[in-house]
Amino acid sequence: MTWTHLRAFGMAALCVLAGSGAAARTPPPVPAVAQAAAPRDPLVARGEYLARAGDCVSCHTRPGGAPFAGGLPMKTPFGTVVSTNITPEPQQGIGQYTLEDFTRALREGRARDGHHLYPAMPYTNFARLTDADLQALHAYFMNGVRPVRQDNPETDLRWPFSMRSLMAVWNWLYLPDKPYEADPARSADWNRGAYLVQGLGHCGACHTPRSFTGAEKAPSPLAGEAFLSGAVIDDWYAQPLRNTVTPGLATWSVSDIVDYLKTGRTERTAAFGPMAQVVANSTQHLSREDLAAVAGYLKSIGGEGDSAVIAPPAATDATAAALRQGETTKPGSLVFLNNCAACHRTDGEGARRTFPSLAHNSAVAAADPTSLIRLVLQGSAMARTAEAPSALAMPALGWRLTDANVADVLSFMRSSWGNQAAPVSPEQVARVRAQVQAPGAAH
Ligand code: HEC
Ligand code: HEC
Ligand code: HEC
Repeated sequence: MTWTHLRAFGMAALCVLAGSGAAARTPPPVPAVAQAAAPRDPLVARGEYLARAGDCVSCHTRPGGAPFAGGLPMKTPFGTVVSTNITPEPQQGIGQYTLEDFTRALREGRARDGHHLYPAMPYTNFARLTDADLQALHAYFMNGVRPVRQDNPETDLRWPFSMRSLMAVWNWLYLPDKPYEADPARSADWNRGAYLVQGLGHCGACHTPRSFTGAEKAPSPLAGEAFLSGAVIDDWYAQPLRNTVTPGLATWSVSDIVDYLKTGRTERTAAFGPMAQVVANSTQHLSREDLAAVAGYLKSIGGEGDSAVIAPPAATDATAAALRQGETTKPGSLVFLNNCAACHRTDGEGARRTFPSLAHNSAVAAADPTSLIRLVLQGSAMARTAEAPSALAMPALGWRLTDANVADVLSFMRSSWGNQAAPVSPEQVARVRAQVQAPGAAH
């Protein structure tokens, strides 16, 4: 599966010229991470774990290329940013990077020769990393990764975006000037979760909306309620990760969140699109303790009090009863019966860990229906993880459903089985269809 991943990289200095800035990445299928044969030094092993938490491999590997050898094109409105080789190869890679050079690249977005990196590299998030973690990461990239020579195209943005020095202004505005500082009023677990989410995990890179300059509107909860409040990223919608009632994580328990990040699925939902890739390449490799810290932290944001409880499916649910009797007067219900009910069932409950439930599901109730439209048009496969190796797939149905059919069935789904989300219009479907079918668009 390939997909494109919007990555903001606006430049404040150029906002007048450019409006919003977003870059796209197309991560490869899950690659095997290269490992040197040498006995493992604990520092190197620690660095490998952190590299997984930072999902370095997804951006720094092109489809079919060697792990970390770069060459992945990330489309932006200004041109294409190509990820670079971060294997320890001395000429093409980062073999000559000292710990200081490496630290400056990750925290300040400067390459060894001093040139500014574009924020397609999430260094505003990595700026939060501690010295100890940077040291372990450096040890891993120098001693645990196989050096690879690989000819990659160079980043070639059109003028004036080709002037990397303009990033200095952007950095001055948006770059955090110090690593994560623990909040002494909170537990060690909470601080660990905050550190992973805001730093290596760079969850906000996809889940926090961007301002017109391309910067995350709020890089931490202290900076405002935009933090992790949901954002559209390359024609996928990354739902809010705040503890708010629909949409949000209020209906999720800590163990649901851990399950989702570890296995790619829960009793009710499954990761799809870019998140399936994040789970497969990154979060499934984290320890349950770290994932519980992440989950506990997310549950503390937004705080609308206690979590909402999911009501069991009503035996008397009107939609399910009507569908079972073949009663299809409600727009979208016939499309649902013919195309969806075989897997997701007439009561919308699906089948545990096999077909997601369409009832009481924060993805289905999302404020923005972009992901739902895209799922029906293009289909999707679940993340393949060590604990849940079967990547069950939803078929692409865009070839046989019209824009009106898709709008009807999604509106039907969003207003059935207790769902109360806004309807979807054929125009919204047409817009997403045009985007995902555009030449060069991701699949
Ligand atoms: C979301 C995509 C993304 C992720 C995740 C990411 N990078 Fe990058 N990184 C990039 C891109 C793109 C560039 C090149 C930017 C440019 O040329 O302006 C880059 C550049 C770099 C550089 C500078 C190398 C050079 O000389 O150009 C280093 C070092 C680096 N990344 C290390 C890492 C590490 C370590 C991780 C994981 C902790 C990581 N990156 C995660 C996208 C990413
Ligand atoms: C590359 C972009 C990207 C990154 C990085 C990312 N996510 Fe996601 N995430 C998404 C998208 C898109 C979705 C919607 C797909 C889905 O629900 O499976 C999503 C969905 C989720 C959901 C399900 C929410 C719901 O209501 O169904 C959770 C939980 C989640 N992400 C947690 C995280 C955490 C924690 C991190 C950081 C460790 C993270 N994500 C990083 C793109 C991303
Ligand atoms: C062959 C079985 C099958 C059919 C038919 C099917 N789906 Fe799915 N659906 C799935 C699977 C499997 C997933 C999980 C995909 C993933 O995680 O990548 C899914 C995911 C979804 C999701 C996301 C829910 C979540 O939490 O992950 C929605 C919404 C959805 N389907 C709606 C529909 C609609 C609407 C139709 C009919 C137009 C339909 N599906 C037809 C199997 C099916």
